Amino acid sequence: MAYNLKNPYIAKLTRAEMLTKPGSGKDTRHYEIDLKGSGMEFLPGDSLAVKATNCPELVEDLLQALKLDGDTVVTSPTKEEKTLRETLFRDCAITAPDKKFLKLLAEKAGNGAAEWAGLLEPEKKADLADYLWGREIIDFLLAHPEASFEAQEFVSTLKKLTVRLYSIASSLKAYPEQVHLTVATVTYESFGRKRKGVCSTFLADRIDETTPIPTFITPGKGFRLPDPEDETPIIMIGPGTGIAPFRAFLQERRATQAKGKAWLFFGDQRRDYDYLYDTEWGDYLKDGILHRLDLAFSRDQDYKIYVQHRMKEAAAEFWSWLEDGAIVYVCGDASRMAKDVDRALHEIVMEEGGRSEEEAAAYVEQLRKDKRYRRDVY
Ligand SMILES: Cc1cc2nc3c(=O)[nH]c(=O)nc-3n(C[C@H](O)[C@H](O)[C@H](O)COP(=O)(O)OP(=O)(O)OC[C@H]3O[C@@H](n4cnc5c(N)ncnc54)[C@H](O)[C@@H]3O)c2cc1C
Ligand SMILES: NC(=O)c1ccc[n+]([C@@H]2O[C@H](COP(=O)([O-])OP(=O)(O)OC[C@H]3O[C@@H](n4cnc5c(N)ncnc54)[C@H](OP(=O)(O)O)[C@@H]3O)[C@@H](O)[C@H]2O)c1
Repeated sequence: MAYNLKNPYIAKLTRAEMLTKPGSGKDTRHYEIDLKGSGMEFLPGDSLAVKATNCPELVEDLLQALKLDGDTVVTSPTKEEKTLRETLFRDCAITAPDKKFLKLLAEKAGNGAAEWAGLLEPEKKADLADYLWGREIIDFLLAHPEASFEAQEFVSTLKKLTVRLYSIASSLKAYPEQVHLTVATVTYESFGRKRKGVCSTFLADRIDETTPIPTFITPGKGFRLPDPEDETPIIMIGPGTGIAPFRAFLQERRATQAKGKAWLFFGDQRRDYDYLYDTEWGDYLKDGILHRLDLAFSRDQDYKIYVQHRMKEAAAEFWSWLEDGAIVYVCGDASRMAKDVDRALHEIVMEEGGRSEEEAAAYVEQLRKDKRYRRDVY
């Protein structure tokens, strides 16, 4: 059955469990979602799209700041007639301010918006992004009580609430008719307000086993395992929530008795608090599904140890796996980790493969072209 944004499968949560332990600086959770009877199918490497609803308290704060009646009927971005409250709850992106909203507010607030209105010029894009970091629509409304909006006018400045993607952390062969996710709950404080990531806090705080969760699969075509009969080794690099697809990979390889060797790099802040799925990896090692596990706990000592440091420490073996045709998979943070892991890969090729900087770049480019260097980073 093909589910998509217009026709999502309405799933239900069956289990939620903390993965990080009390005392951790993070809040990362494991979710199990029931797919019984849906006919929904996926492969390791795919992601699940989840359509959340917004935080109802934030909706009420917005209505109060706007001095608007939540029962006013408006046309929602879905083109349906609904109350303003329902529209803000279900259909609109009500946290990050869009330029359309800021432009209209700047017109309404006049001189009152002098602090930021100049940043709306196209050449000030980076300055605007800096200014907006940690600021939400509610902050602008509270800062400009002089600007008043009609209900429909306000809704028209908002973008549609989009789905969030999560790498699937289970294999259908191990858990038929279920999908598992590994999600870091996004919360932070800025400008004196507690902020909540829309979808991760929906999953963590606002649902139970009865809540409808609209979902569908988005295929991770570039993030596929080799055929189980194929002896190609795999190297999986997944710090933090980047571990999710590799849990699915190892479940799948156990179920299919995959022939090739497998090496996993995992890292997070502290071993005692943030070692995600710590009880599972030992069995894979014992059973020969996983051949090597390297761990990088960044905050267990007074200097940082990251996955790329472990790659470099094992450079000779990493190089020999590469020369044996290994596929390298990287999943997790795009902004810093994926770049540094890429650098470490180049350095291993230079140092162990005796290549120059340019030759190493060409080697890595060839890995990419041969689909032996695959990334799923966000
Ligand atoms: C292919 C793919 C796979 C993914 N897989 C996973 C996964 O397996 N697990 C997982 O947890 N996530 C995964 N993600 C990320 C996930 O889709 C969401 O982006 C994430 O859960 C945050 O969504 P949210 O709705 O909770 O937060 P949002 O409401 O989207 O808020 C997040 C935004 O808040 C802002 N923000 C965050 N922290 C701060 C701060 N300290 N100060 C100021 N602003 C801040 C940033 O602008 C950030 O973009 C994946 C993404 C992709 C594209
Ligand atoms: N807002 C931000 O700045 C920020 C940063 C990272 C992740 N995120 C987002 O937060 C969510 C949860 O993150 P997560 O739990 O998946 O893991 P994560 O925060 O990316 O952290 C996992 C591990 O990676 C380490 N790390 C940090 N920088 C690294 C680098 N340059 N190279 C290699 N490892 C590095 C972290 O160490 P230390 O924390 O000790 O440095 C930690 O041990 C994701 O959605 C991610 O995109 C946001």
